[in-house]
Amino acid sequence: MALKDSYTLPAAADMHVHLRNAPGAIASLVTPTIRSAGVDTVFVMPNLAPRPVVSVAEALEYKKALQQLDGQVNYLMSLYLHESVTPDVIREAKKAGIAGVKAYPRGATTNSQWGVVSFEPFHEVLQAMEEEGVVLNLHGEVPSSSADGVTVMNAEERFLPVLQGLVAKYPRLKIVLEHCTSADAVKAVTALGENVVATITAHHLSLLVDDWSANVHHYCKPSAKSPEDRRALLNAVVTSNGKFFLGTDSAPHDITSKKGKGNTAAGVFTQPHALGYVLTALEEAIARGDIADSSVTEDVLKGFFSEYGRQFYGVPLATKQIRLTRGGARVEESLKGEGVEVVPFRAGEETWGVEWL
Ligand code: NCD
Ligand code: ZN
Repeated sequence: MALKDSYTLPAAADMHVHLRNAPGAIASLVTPTIRSAGVDTVFVMPNLAPRPVVSVAEALEYKKALQQLDGQVNYLMSLYLHESVTPDVIREAKKAGIAGVKAYPRGATTNSQWGVVSFEPFHEVLQAMEEEGVVLNLHGEVPSSSADGVTVMNAEERFLPVLQGLVAKYPRLKIVLEHCTSADAVKAVTALGENVVATITAHHLSLLVDDWSANVHHYCKPSAKSPEDRRALLNAVVTSNGKFFLGTDSAPHDITSKKGKGNTAAGVFTQPHALGYVLTALEEAIARGDIADSSVTEDVLKGFFSEYGRQFYGVPLATKQIRLTRGGARVEESLKGEGVEVVPFRAGEETWGVEWL
């Protein structure tokens, strides 16, 4: 067996989660699964519908509602980059402890219809973020366009010049390229300075294009790509040194939005077993020869799961510990709440158990 049977690690931080509207049926269902996965700190995405989180008051109200669902989680809140976010809002956000501002290229993903068409109109906002040390979180895709030859397969690669342009223009701005999925993105982020990092999800360490083309529960944006891309992500995890850390992009959708009459909703739900999925992916990668078994050290797991994300956001390191045990849990077939049903990644499979120490 390539990995050990059990690991004792600091509590994890998941720096990209979708918890949906709170109060709300999906939020009530998924928020309690954060800590059962061994996570005590999450960066909460603002792409709510019918109205994204665009003001500090809304972000704080949202945080309060989440605290009512689980008061022991540290929720790092974010704003949705939108014309109502002004430099004054950025300064107010900094004072209120808002951790970041998320930019969604319009049309690129779920609830991105209020998103960014160009970064030009946000020049002063980005300058204020650079001055205040407020993080810019990027959904790193351009929208698909047959005229421009963009599909889900190259949408991230086509976004990289935008990232590089932002870095050139705002060299001190702290940037997270969220849920990177390609070898090109890993290379681009690695080449940029230390204020530019990326999150990696659990499911992108496992999935390929063939998986989501056959299964709606594996479909998300950015979508999983080629074996070379997956190998680059796995290698980024084990050589991260702080550049890459966990952001699951756990994105719950009711089963009717996945399997209804319309287009399938983008998003893979991974919250309840986030860490186990990563360990399984690392083991599968060792078995394939994508990474060496000696590369998966406890320091690598500690850094990727817990320390690097906190360090980037300036959050204190974890004080609690968790134990992960091989085979200690089984992924639910589905999670059912009030009028909603969400199917998790790897439903029904055996996974790692989590205990709080
Ligand atoms: C996310 C969602 O469902 O909100 N979907 C996804 O496929 N990842 C939005 C996002 O982060 O792109
Ligand atoms: Zn997301």
